[in-house]
Amino acid sequence: MYANELLDALPCHRVRQGPQGLEELYVDLDGDRLALRPGPPSSDAIAGYFDRAGVDLPAGCVADVSPAALEWVADAARALERGWLLLVDYGGEAAELFGPAHPEGTLRGYWRHLVDAPLERRHGRAPGPAWLARPGAQDLTYHVDFTAIAGWRRTRVS
Ligand SMILES: C[S@@+](CC[C@H](N)C(=O)[O-])C[C@H]1O[C@@H](n2cnc3c(N)ncnc32)[C@H](O)[C@@H]1O
Repeated sequence: MYANELLDALPCHRVRQGPQGLEELYVDLDGDRLALRPGPPSSDAIAGYFDRAGVDLPAGCVADVSPAALEWVADAARALERGWLLLVDYGGEAAELFGPAHPEGTLRGYWRHLVDAPLERRHGRAPGPAWLARPGAQDLTYHVDFTAIAGWRRTRVS
């Protein structure tokens, strides 16, 4: 089974190592625009993601993780009695992705082939993250955690 740039197209969750521990950054409304609002992790899969990955997310660091990508790999593997799963995608190892090399995470928005196309100030307010600006009109992608994908048997999502 072969898949090119599929896993980075699946949903991801944005989290941050906050003062009280891991928090999830939810998309919320702020007046007439979308904004991020921190809250508790939305599932055990998210809450325990870095423990299973054996990675300490440094304080203040943001990360984008995808239990959906692990579930897709588990489903694909179940469909194969014997064989190979060849996955080609943008990504990296957990130790590189979740730390000082990517303190703002890896989530990006592509709009008219422009990555994180700059936004103008509106109502005197600084724009939020570019990937939030044009919902439904831009392609979102994040870097796939190849460590978790390669080790999905150990990190099977309950
Ligand atoms: C970035 S595009 C890659 C398309 C193609 N593989 C290529 O190499 O050009 C991501 C593709 O994943 C498909 N996709 C998204 N979620 C999917 C899912 N859960 N199962 C199967 N395909 C999915 C989308 O429809 C889209 O065509």
